[in-house]
Amino acid sequence: MLHSSIEQRLRHAVVEVVPDVNLSDIHIQPCPDAKFGDYQTNALMSVAKALRKNPRQLATDVLKCLNVADICEFAEIAGAGYINFKLKDEALAAALAQADGHPDKLLGIRCKPRTFVIDFSSPNTAKPMHVGHIRSTVLGESIARTLRFLGHRVIKDNHIGDWGTQFGKLIVGWRSILRPQALKEDPMGEMERLYKSVSAECEANPETLALARQELKTLQEGDAANLSIWNEMTRWSMDEFERMYGRLGVQFDHTLGESFYNSRLKGVVDDLVAQNIARESEGAIVVFFEDSTELKDHPALVRKSDGAANYTTTDLATVAYRLETWSPDEIVYVTDGRQQLHFKQLFAICQKWLKSDAAPVKLTHVWFGSILGEDGKPFRTRSGETVSLEGLLDEAEERALAVVTTKNPDLSENDRREIARVVGIGAIKYADLLPNRQSDSVFNWEKMLSFNGNTAPYLQYAYARVMSLFRKMEPVAAQDPASPFSLSHPDERRLAAHLLNFGLVIKAVAGDYRPNYLCTYLFELAGHFARFYEACPVLKAEAAQRESRLLLCRVTGQVLKQGLDLLGIETVDRM
Ligand code: ARG
Repeated sequence: MLHSSIEQRLRHAVVEVVPDVNLSDIHIQPCPDAKFGDYQTNALMSVAKALRKNPRQLATDVLKCLNVADICEFAEIAGAGYINFKLKDEALAAALAQADGHPDKLLGIRCKPRTFVIDFSSPNTAKPMHVGHIRSTVLGESIARTLRFLGHRVIKDNHIGDWGTQFGKLIVGWRSILRPQALKEDPMGEMERLYKSVSAECEANPETLALARQELKTLQEGDAANLSIWNEMTRWSMDEFERMYGRLGVQFDHTLGESFYNSRLKGVVDDLVAQNIARESEGAIVVFFEDSTELKDHPALVRKSDGAANYTTTDLATVAYRLETWSPDEIVYVTDGRQQLHFKQLFAICQKWLKSDAAPVKLTHVWFGSILGEDGKPFRTRSGETVSLEGLLDEAEERALAVVTTKNPDLSENDRREIARVVGIGAIKYADLLPNRQSDSVFNWEKMLSFNGNTAPYLQYAYARVMSLFRKMEPVAAQDPASPFSLSHPDERRLAAHLLNFGLVIKAVAGDYRPNYLCTYLFELAGHFARFYEACPVLKAEAAQRESRLLLCRVTGQVLKQGLDLLGIETVDRM
């Protein structure tokens, strides 16, 4: 792809001028303003700074060694030492024709494949999945798809919370107040009821609390009766989760919950102690971070004074297992921002603990903010309950159905329901993906289901519009492949240049784990397409022009579809 070849040639030219420069710092990016060109690099300014050279002089020297005349109309110095590149129309057209049917060709040079474990979604059993879990699910899935599209090996692992302290209370409730019929009808609701009811009882009655602690202890020691109750609760929960993942179109390669690591926890703690990483303190086993300013006041417990391991211990065992099993280059955790301290501690312990490993694994916490209601408080139902995922998806589809019905009263009910499903679920996902993930975002039904604005329905509609064009088309004789592709109108050129940026954006998404870059890109793409479509007749154009405009439409459709797919969002051909 053109950006790759410009970048490569730029790197060669830079090496000729300054032989020992770090080439991975030399990049080009799309020009922020199309009037200056298509691509731009500011990399020479930092190189110049490091070498104490004049940046414009360095840029001039590099330009002398740079030959891009076959693909660029110009490469010129701007400002303090930028280089701007403007593509030749013919080069642009040829690149686009090459990508037709293969949007992955827009990626350009492939990076070296790496192995990633993505730890995401990870709800807790016997508790309903809530809006925070959906955000992890949606973000994690999109990151996984993007990395796979780039050619990496990706292992999606759902680290279910199935071994928490909630089970003591749950077992007490299961034995005393379980309603079997309610369990069948609404398993998560019934288990939640057990939990709430026993929790309240524990507050009032220390005997119940002692009983719950006892049940938890016997469960953890492997008591058969308690394990069988636990198994049943896990089964009900997993069925529910699977149903949700089915609706969201998400699949995992592995679902290894916390309980899976139970037998390894003791070994982890013993090893930490043996290696002098953890030590006894007030009856507990603790890791202190004396050498870290950030963590020195936040020691991490790995064994409580009652002998029980905790979330950190389990996560340590999990890292070790993943290394043994998949030898990943990187493990990515997608959770809410409130777990930042936990992951900082975990990563800091791993750094000491795994230091003997030849190739250290990179550990990344991809965290996100909260979803707020219009009132700026955590998003809840009208009656003040936390919003369950299921209720959320149902409401999204219902509201989408109303919108779709107003727009397309003539479609059959089945068709409208299917479109509403795709639009409703897409809207929810997009609302999770679009905001900068580290800021809190406000949940607003009208906004996210609107067909105007930066929303999933708007993008899905843009795609359907492209598709409708091809439906309207009468078959014509195949074009002479040698006939020149023309970009006569500025709106054609802008659309074409934007399409070529797809690969750069995908790489940026993968680099920062930020699917919102792709959202913005697709929104701009839909805008460029709308302007082009408004200004340039397609089906009524002259033969040669018609062919090149159809090519633009085709690639736009393919990139929209591929891009939405990387966000985990489905499309329909007709809306
Ligand atoms: N179950 C946890 C929660 O609901 C998330 C687990 C995230 N993954 C991990 N390896 N700690 O908050």
